[in-house]
Amino acid sequence: MSNVIVIGSQWGDEGKGKIVDWLSNKADAVVRFQGGHNAGHTLVVNEEVYKLSLLPSGVVRGKKSYIGNGVVLDLWALAEEIKTISAKGVNIDQNLLSISETTPLILSYHRELDTAREHKLQGIKIGTTGRGIGPAYEDKVGRRAIRLCDIFDIKTLKNKIENALFHHNPIRKGLGIEEIQSDNIVNQLHSMSGFIKPFVKNIWKELIDLQNEKKNILFEGAQGTMLDIDHGTYPFVTSSNTISSQAGIGSGIGMIQNSYTLGITKAYLTRVGEGPFPTEQDNSIGEKLGTLGNEFGTVTGRKRRCGWLDIVLLKQSADICGIHGMALTKLDVLDSFEKIRVCISYKYNGKKYDYLPPTITPADELEKEYIEIDGWNTSTKGCRNFEDLPSNAKKYVNILKELTGIEISLLSTSPEREDTILFKNPFS
Ligand code: GDP
Ligand code: IMO
Ligand code: MG
Repeated sequence: MSNVIVIGSQWGDEGKGKIVDWLSNKADAVVRFQGGHNAGHTLVVNEEVYKLSLLPSGVVRGKKSYIGNGVVLDLWALAEEIKTISAKGVNIDQNLLSISETTPLILSYHRELDTAREHKLQGIKIGTTGRGIGPAYEDKVGRRAIRLCDIFDIKTLKNKIENALFHHNPIRKGLGIEEIQSDNIVNQLHSMSGFIKPFVKNIWKELIDLQNEKKNILFEGAQGTMLDIDHGTYPFVTSSNTISSQAGIGSGIGMIQNSYTLGITKAYLTRVGEGPFPTEQDNSIGEKLGTLGNEFGTVTGRKRRCGWLDIVLLKQSADICGIHGMALTKLDVLDSFEKIRVCISYKYNGKKYDYLPPTITPADELEKEYIEIDGWNTSTKGCRNFEDLPSNAKKYVNILKELTGIEISLLSTSPEREDTILFKNPFS
């Protein structure tokens, strides 16, 4: 395969960053195709920790990196991230990083609207990252977004901003936030145009050329299937399509040929923010998973909710994304559990379900059928050879393979890049 699409098969934070970094060894280019700096992808290389939100995880290996049109871009967040990553010795220049000229921008009024809506007392609270993601995507489909290419056209920029503010100012007034003058935003954007200009390109043409040359392209998804705007646990989702078919739309390749979709899957389950979570363990088991797995949000530092692996949701995700193989991560977090549970079906209002019914709310009591597997009580942390795993750990991995019917391509046993067991290279 010359193209690998990496997606999160759960509610995000499955370990996509680590796996993308590992796979990028074999890639000629790495592409982000949706989301924004709500993502937090962690890489650990020789004990050095890199936290990436906008930069594709291939940058650390110096691989050509692309931010596609499907991303929403906060220029100030990008500048900060480039500074932080450069300080760790990664040189990020226009030869390494290209950003699509049609990428919509996240501006100050998007961040402020996101926060104001989350702080209101009535209605549904989503528990967003507060980064302005939802409002920026709303402006994109509302055809009033400011795109990267717009900021260099001084003649038309002010008009475009006034058009956006024609929508935003009445909302701000209604929410009790001060209205904005267009000149303010124009000045903010002018102050960033010199910094960003060298990175701005037509990337779809470049990527199609790479595909035609049979180069290896790695598409790096953010969030996870259950946070997808169409297929996730709506309305407790992010505002983009996070599934594999977005890779083509969000980069401009159209039909991605010869591709392998790799679903990154945590050996248990976590979720940040509000929304249904059938296998959540709001008890000492969840606490233990959270402590051992260090389950705190990479972006907001919020405590992640923890629970057992949910095969129903995993199979749903695999079907929707056309997952060919899984990378199973954080197996080591289960090392000290006597018994490990896995949910295999749901019952709701007397009816059995092999998928999550879309009307389930956080308060709904869903009956869960679990199977219980014996733990292994031995450290697997850092294990690099499947044969060296304790037999119950091997059994757990094999049971997951059988229950899902999906091959396991990679197994991760610690945050460190090389603590990874390969069964099948998705690029081969
Ligand atoms: P992403 O958003 O999917 O890239 O995942 P995050 O980086 O937000 O969260 C995953 C966390 O788990 C990070 O702190 C990783 O360093 C860590 N991690 C990844 N793989 C493993 C693993 O196999 N074992 C352990 N213990 N930690 C891991
Ligand atoms: P990575 O790429 C986990 C969640 C937020 C919230 C919901 C909507 O690191 O896996 P948003 O700010 O996107 O409007 O928030 O989505 N969320 C994530 N949860 N991992 C992420 O990204 C997430 N990005 C957004 O917590 O529930
Ligand atoms: Mg994350």
